[in-house]
Amino acid sequence: MCVPVVRNPSYDVAMAPLIELRGLTVEIPTPAGWIRPVDDVSFVLETGESLGLVGESGSGKSMLALALMGLLPPGAKVRGEAWFSGANASSASRVNLLALGEREKIAVRGRDIAMIFQEPMTALNPVMRVGAQIAEAIRAHEPGISREEIHRRVLAALERAAVPEPAVRARQYPHQLSGGLRQRAMIAMALAGNDESAPRENGAGGKPRLLIADEPTTALDVTVQKQILELLAQLRRDLGLALLFITHDLGVVAQVADRIAVSYAGRIVETGPSREVLARPRHPYTAGLLRASPQLVRHKLEPIPGAVPALTALPPGCAFEPRCALRVPECAAAMPELRDAGPGHTARCILV
Ligand SMILES: Nc1ncnc2c1ncn2[C@@H]1O[C@H](COP(=O)(O)OP(=O)(O)O)[C@@H](O)[C@H]1O
Ligand code: SF4
Ligand SMILES: [Mg+2]
Repeated sequence: MCVPVVRNPSYDVAMAPLIELRGLTVEIPTPAGWIRPVDDVSFVLETGESLGLVGESGSGKSMLALALMGLLPPGAKVRGEAWFSGANASSASRVNLLALGEREKIAVRGRDIAMIFQEPMTALNPVMRVGAQIAEAIRAHEPGISREEIHRRVLAALERAAVPEPAVRARQYPHQLSGGLRQRAMIAMALAGNDESAPRENGAGGKPRLLIADEPTTALDVTVQKQILELLAQLRRDLGLALLFITHDLGVVAQVADRIAVSYAGRIVETGPSREVLARPRHPYTAGLLRASPQLVRHKLEPIPGAVPALTALPPGCAFEPRCALRVPECAAAMPELRDAGPGHTARCILV
């Protein structure tokens, strides 16, 4: 039998993951010296898959998302590769998001990759009606589109985000909406380019393939949080979106993610299928997050003692060593590599 030789299967776009990060590193200048909030991060996200990126505040989660969106703060240096195979208007099968020019980055944002943030008030313009902001997001990628079509698409986007009375809400300002409705308006805006009737290939329009949600429910109370998580799950199903869900709360990620990546001081310390990681965490930090999650623990909560180290003063060995109850002397000698911890499961700990 003749077996075709595929030299680099990862370049077959049908087989390539939607996103493949290889050694993504972000460095930022601060008065205390350069810090590395994202340090040699590699992972893949398959088409339609949901990956939860978890870690305490300050572990570099937002910086990673901003690097993918091409929105890093001025002066930041970025290294590594971020291969994306869902660009609508690109003839290339995969593009390295980190190597795109400014115009290409703008084209990718909103059209191919949509992002929603923790606090919609900072992302929405307070002096502009909600509908006008969504219209602007649509027009940014499809300049020639008629007023009637924009109006139809704005209402469709609000409806898709399950905003009740979309015509009324479109005429309101962000402060007139509740926290939950603002987050829905934000989701509507992020996905406004995702319209069934929009041109899909080689044109201005197209469907986002990836939604990055950076702590989208952190500012909401538990009931509203649950509704937003359900909305995201439904949108994923309906639109075939992959989701990169960023949170500090393992309890939330358990509800939305197929796989989990745990981040600590800029590095991934554990990855694996959600169920497996939650049932059998192999890194002491992940186990600590589990014991500290109000939604996953029925008995007494045990917060992890201490705090994430300053990125300007990282310990020489395992970054978690100063807080780890299981540490042994050799933990301080060198930073452990990610080790195999089972099928699709890795952990950066010498005990594995
Ligand atoms: N604009 C900035 N300039 C300098 N340092 C920053 C900036 N934004 C974030 N940082 C630092 O980068 C690190 C990671 O931040 P961030 O990605 O926001 O973490 P997370 O989203 O996990 O809470 C933190 O130490 C933070 O202080
Ligand atoms: S390498 Fe050592 S200090 Fe680090 S998590 Fe494992 S046991 Fe704890
Ligand atoms: Mg953040």
